[in-house]
Order: sequence, then C-alpha cells, then structure tokens
Amino acid sequence: MAQRPKVFVTRVLPDAGLQLIEEMCDADVWRDALPPPADVLRQKIADREGLVALLTDKIDDALLGQAPKLKVISNFAVGFNNIDVPACTERGVCVGNTPGVLTDATADMAFCLLIAAARRVVEGHQYTLAGKWKTWEPLGHLGQDLMGRTLGIVGMGRIGYALAKRCRGGWDMRILYSDVFSNEKSEMTIGARRVDLDTLLKESDFLSLHADLNDKTRGMIGAAQLQKMKKTAVLINTARGPLIDQKALAAALRDGTIFAAGLDVTDPEPPDKDDPLLRLPNVILAPHIASATVRTRDNMAMICAQNLLAGLRGDKLPAWVNPEVAGKRRK
Ligand code: GLV
Repeated sequence: MAQRPKVFVTRVLPDAGLQLIEEMCDADVWRDALPPPADVLRQKIADREGLVALLTDKIDDALLGQAPKLKVISNFAVGFNNIDVPACTERGVCVGNTPGVLTDATADMAFCLLIAAARRVVEGHQYTLAGKWKTWEPLGHLGQDLMGRTLGIVGMGRIGYALAKRCRGGWDMRILYSDVFSNEKSEMTIGARRVDLDTLLKESDFLSLHADLNDKTRGMIGAAQLQKMKKTAVLINTARGPLIDQKALAAALRDGTIFAAGLDVTDPEPPDKDDPLLRLPNVILAPHIASATVRTRDNMAMICAQNLLAGLRGDKLPAWVNPEVAGKRRK
C-alpha cells in the first residue's frame, strides 16, 4: 500500500482494532454515540476504499452505488443482515464479519436470560426496589426448574451448540434442535436430536433462537408457533429481533400462552416506547449486549481490522462472507 487507503469507520471501536486501522489507513472515524445518519454515511463513503460498518448501518445497493471506489466492507458483528451481500458481490466489494470469537459470550448471555427469566430474577429485583418485599412467601415468585428439562435450539450453529453444551453438561438437559442442516458433532457429543420445528415447539421447556435472519426465517415464531409451546416454556432470543412476531409474543406473554421470554434483541432496536413488551413483568429485555465483554469486543475489533486490511490489499479476508467475489474484486 503505497498511499494509505482512505476508510470510513462508523463508530469508535476498541483500540485492539482501531489503532491498527488508524496506523495503516487514512481513517475517518465517526465519533458520535449514535450511528451516522444515512445521508452522512452516503457522503462519507463516496471516495473511500474501505468501510467498517456496524449492524446499525444499512448497506444496500443504492448506497453501494454512491461508493465507486469501495473494495471492502468489514462488519463489526458476526451477523450481516444489515448488508446486501449479493449486491456487494455483484459490484466486486468484499464483505467480512467476526465469527467465532463471540460464540461463548453470546451463549453465556442466552443462558443468563434463560435462568433469569425462568427464575423471575428481574421481576424480583423490581419487587424489592419497590419496597414490596414484606416476608418470605411460600407461594410467591414461583419459577421454572432447569434440571433435566428439554432445551430446544433453533439453528444448531456455533452459538446454539455452545448453549446446548452448557445446558447438557451443567443441567443434564435433553437437547433437541431444528435446522436445515444436521449437526453431527452435537448429536455425537451431547446426544442432540434433530426434529421438525413443530416437535421442537411442543417438547421444549426452553426454546432458544440462533438462526440467521433472512427471508425464510423472518417472523418464524408467530402466534401459531407460540400456541404450540408449553404454558411453562421460556423463549430466548439472542439472534435477531425480527425472527419473532413481537406483537404475537406480547400477547402470548400477557395471556399465559408461554411462561416468560428473555430477549437480547428486538424489532426495532430499541423497541418503540409504546411496545406492550415494555409493560409486561414476564419478559427480560437486554439492549443487544450478548457480545459485550471486554475480551470479546477486543477480539472482534482485531478480526474486523484484519478483514479490512486484507480487503484493501487484495488478500483473502480471514473471515470472508462472500468469497465468491474473488474473481471480480475491485482493484
Ligand atoms: C451481534 O448481534 C452480532 O451479530 O455480532
């Protein structure tokens, strides 16, 4: 790289990656707490060869059309539903993401939501703060047991498997999963069994979503699916909000169709102020923080920087979403 390539970074990232980017590139870093508005993003990338994007930045074909020099988009996330990948490939733009390094942190968060929702921890906290705790109550705050129950995983990829291992090893749970592919490793190591979605809904005490968001999975958990679940079931989502029909979920939680939900993701993010979920006692809402640990975010930043630099040099990206672009990469 004779001249330092021009890049735009849509938010301040951990130093572990940002320092390298700033050293190797002519980097314009958006330092606000909120993402750059669409028109600013369009203007910022007009002459840039590289873009570091977040899941809050929508990259569609129209935007790509305004960035004729762009060679690489490095997404600071494992999910990339914010990017129109086929359009990038068509235009010769590489896309990178950050898989692997956030698997454990995300599985931990899914488990954290699972046990907190099952045992009504946040509700109890609010009860205590409100001064309602008067005495020990034999019939108060009753939740659900974990030991020996059935965990249903929708999408047995890296994160689903990591959660299933925790629940099998620590709580002796039976593991069922639904997926378009079978995951032999999970079947061999923890006795997971692949079933259809209907069976998974009917048999799971805890149902945890780990599917990609795409046209086939959007809204996959709606009123009809919630009706099939147990009244004692807990639904967990650390993947993407639009996998669930949120109105249907609020109704199911209100009517006792299912017991509770633990969500790290919503649709939209943050949820609208008048979203009924915000007023229900049996849902826990975390602000999309599953990968938010110091080490995980450092590791994500490093992969993100490496993807960006590889894309600018014309090398293979360490975590390459669209390797099929190889033959027609922009020079
Ligand atoms: C976070 O949601 C991610 O996709 O990394």
